[in-house]
Amino acid sequence: MFIAMNRFRIAPGREADFIAVWRQRESHLDGVPGFESFHLLQGPGTAEATLFASHTVWASRQAFEDWTRSEAFRRAHGQAGVQRDLYLGPPQLELFDAVL
Ligand code: HEM
Repeated sequence: MFIAMNRFRIAPGREADFIAVWRQRESHLDGVPGFESFHLLQGPGTAEATLFASHTVWASRQAFEDWTRSEAFRRAHGQAGVQRDLYLGPPQLELFDAVL
């Protein structure tokens, strides 16, 4: 099992707008080989930023890497980052191999 998380720092007060971007997205994950699950997670907020993470579970690192090079990934990101005022900088990608 392999987990890919992308952390986003969102401007305070813009949380609902960020969630709306994800709710309204056209998802291309269903049917991707090795894709297991997706969640959008909301974490703690401070005066500076509210933390979110996109969390995906994959059968293997290879399945994840194949997706990042796929047409499904490219299509899912056609509109990503368009609403620049939501983001306090670029997202931070974190990759995890399940060890137990
Ligand atoms: C390798 C790095 C990345 C990973 C693993 C990743 C992960 C994901 C996943 C799993 C989805 C949902 C795809 C679907 O439902 O078909 C998605 C969509 C999205 N990603 Fe990424 N992403 C990456 C890079 C980025 C970057 C650089 C941004 C810059 C802002 C970004 C912003 C977004 C947004 C806003 C959406 C929602 C799509 C929309 O706007 O309609 N992602 N991403």
